[in-house]
Amino acid sequence: MAKTCLLSSTAIVFISLSVISLLPSAFSADFSDGYKKSPVPKCDLDLLEFPLNLEYLEAEFFLYGALGHGLDKVAPYLAEGGPSPIGAKKANLDTITNDIILQFAYQEVGHLKAIKKTVKGFPRPQLDLSASLFAKVIDKAFGKPLNPPFDPYANSINFLIASYLIPYVGLTGYVGANPKLQGAISKRLVAGLLGVESGQDAVIRGLLYEHAAENVSPYQFVVAEFTNRISNLRNSLGHTDRKDEGLIVPIDFGAEGKVVGNVLAGDQFSVAFDRTPEEILRIVYGSGNESVPGGFFPKGGNGSIAKSHLHSANGYY
Ligand SMILES: *[C@@H]1O[C@H](CO)[C@@H](O)[C@H](O)[C@H]1NC(C)=O
Ligand SMILES: *[C@@H]1O[C@H](CO)[C@@H](O)[C@H](O)[C@H]1NC(C)=O
Repeated sequence: MAKTCLLSSTAIVFISLSVISLLPSAFSADFSDGYKKSPVPKCDLDLLEFPLNLEYLEAEFFLYGALGHGLDKVAPYLAEGGPSPIGAKKANLDTITNDIILQFAYQEVGHLKAIKKTVKGFPRPQLDLSASLFAKVIDKAFGKPLNPPFDPYANSINFLIASYLIPYVGLTGYVGANPKLQGAISKRLVAGLLGVESGQDAVIRGLLYEHAAENVSPYQFVVAEFTNRISNLRNSLGHTDRKDEGLIVPIDFGAEGKVVGNVLAGDQFSVAFDRTPEEILRIVYGSGNESVPGGFFPKGGNGSIAKSHLHSANGYY
């Protein structure tokens, strides 16, 4: 990737030089046309298309949760012929939660459009949004099977807990991508996506925080414990130090080491954590290994970054 970056900045320098030195107009026009068609530096393309994987996941989960159908009805062209998600369905939500999740859903449709307007991207990957998959993740987080199995679609609190699994991972990915981007358009797009993803995460956490000390029926575990265990699972799957925190933390991890409430996650300076694409793949595959697809992406993610890991592992692509 570093090589591509170098080539592309050389090309840009060459274009400026050719314009300055007033080479024959046909010659420089060829080059500047090519440049105009692709205003995003080549080295940014992979980093900008990668988050499509997560945006597809969020769009489908929220659309189905609020409406009972997904992109195939709402914006079929955005799916580009990619397979319909497995097991997604309408969630049993109260009025206000349904209203908020519907807003999130359409926001994700917008995000898909914004990314695809900027980079070519890829069709919707195969997604698994079945209740049994979420149950498996929650069992893994608790280190034992819950009985009955966790059902994300059963009620508002369960759906919010399941949602706690998703935008936060996307947001750490945008924080991680930002310093690697070269172009102004790429940086503007990622900052804009990050702003709204963190807003979604904040709303989800805020709604859950109000119930932090209540049991998630019919289990004997409170909401905060679910969030702490999911965050610990993500930390362990990502193979990194702490980049994820639940709603109640040891006081040392709270803002300025002064509070145990943790409605927003952040580092010792309350600055958002970052994740690499590889860390994200390990988490959303549920395998702890970016080369071993599974979890929400039974056939793996798409785009150069995700494919590069699948390719090296088993030569699927
Ligand atoms: C990735 O996208 C290409 C088209 O760009 C498609 O042919 C391929 O099947 C996709 N792979 C996955 C895993 O979805
Ligand atoms: C990840 O999976 C690949 C393919 O199965 C394997 O070769 C590699 O050793 C695994 N990496 C780790 C860190 O376990």
